[in-house]
Amino acid sequence: MGQLICTACKATYPADKPRWRCDCGSVLDLDFTPVFDLAKIARRKPTMWRYREAIPIAEDNAIVSFDEGFTPLTEVVFEGKTVFIKQDHLFPSGSYKDRGASVLVSKIKELGIREVVEDSSGNAGAAIAAYCARAGIGCTIFVPEHTSAGKLAQIQLYGAKLNKVPGTREDTARAALRAAEKTYYASHSWNPFFFHGTKTFAFEVCEQLGWRCPDTVILPAGNGTLLLGAYLGFQELRQAGITYRIPAIIGIQAENCAPLCRALQNSLTEIPKVKGGETMAEGIAVAEPVRGKQILNAVHQSGGRFIAVSEAEIKESLLEMCRQGHYIEPTSAAAIAGIKKYLPESRPGEVIVSVFTGHGLKATEKMLQLLGRGGPG
Ligand SMILES: Cc1ncc(COP(=O)(O)O)c(C=O)c1O
Ligand SMILES: [Zn+2]
Repeated sequence: MGQLICTACKATYPADKPRWRCDCGSVLDLDFTPVFDLAKIARRKPTMWRYREAIPIAEDNAIVSFDEGFTPLTEVVFEGKTVFIKQDHLFPSGSYKDRGASVLVSKIKELGIREVVEDSSGNAGAAIAAYCARAGIGCTIFVPEHTSAGKLAQIQLYGAKLNKVPGTREDTARAALRAAEKTYYASHSWNPFFFHGTKTFAFEVCEQLGWRCPDTVILPAGNGTLLLGAYLGFQELRQAGITYRIPAIIGIQAENCAPLCRALQNSLTEIPKVKGGETMAEGIAVAEPVRGKQILNAVHQSGGRFIAVSEAEIKESLLEMCRQGHYIEPTSAAAIAGIKKYLPESRPGEVIVSVFTGHGLKATEKMLQLLGRGGPG
């Protein structure tokens, strides 16, 4: 099922051997040609696996799934303007990371791997732990020690080993890299199979719009697993002749940790070193995104850009969404704050899509802080 290809030196490797990085140290992509049979797709169950021939898993019996995906694309009105929001906080583990985890853990099962490590700000770790539980694969998840308690509980209750690392998100990544020298690295940012799961976001959006491509897609951007996956998915649909263009992709970062924003603003080709400041958007607090250059290229090629949002804007958007009945976590509210900043420059009739990435129930202690309380009571 395709071959792995290095994004830097173009070396190729067979995809049926366990490998997550090029010998030169760079990230790998998967060279794979998807097939879309729209009539067949329409007859299948409403899950992300309805695009079966577009997902690079050879054997059906390797598929690890909870019948996830095909999340509702719901209209939300912001000051008179409608935005279509994908409710990806409704996935089994409570975030869109299940898209990537379902495909990556299927690949891991296909490869016959019995034990993996992964590092995460919490949600990807929870998703990998859930799918490993389903597949009976052992896993150890590395997280920053200040990760939301709800995500930590979830990881442990799924039966994964939890390793809390003091320091920044980057310190956690380094700890997992050391462990990955001995065990397979089920990394959502390094492993290309994760992106062949998150790309189903684009397939679903286009199908739900009547196989039409939206004009603009507004997505949170940390390691870019959703952004790059969506870009790949929109490109695959265009290459297959199902749509004829791709949308402009707007990436949203927290002002306190915005290396991609900074790079694009200053026309840099390398990602600048930023000191990751505190942000309530823990999922996008990524100071050194491993696929940073790819993310910049995707946003640039799509005709989009980045928008940075402040802590006050994230908080206001979170409160606004909750008051409308959408219980999302603070990281997801960063994308909503981005929508609010983008809308004044949108055109009448522009079809804009965004996403609720994670469920509010995962971040109860942060939600309590919004009420002005440090804890229950
Ligand atoms: C709730 C939530 N939203 C958005 C993101 C953004 O991540 P990425 O850019 O890696 O897709 C994350 C990552 O952990 C997350 O947990
Ligand atoms: Zn290489």
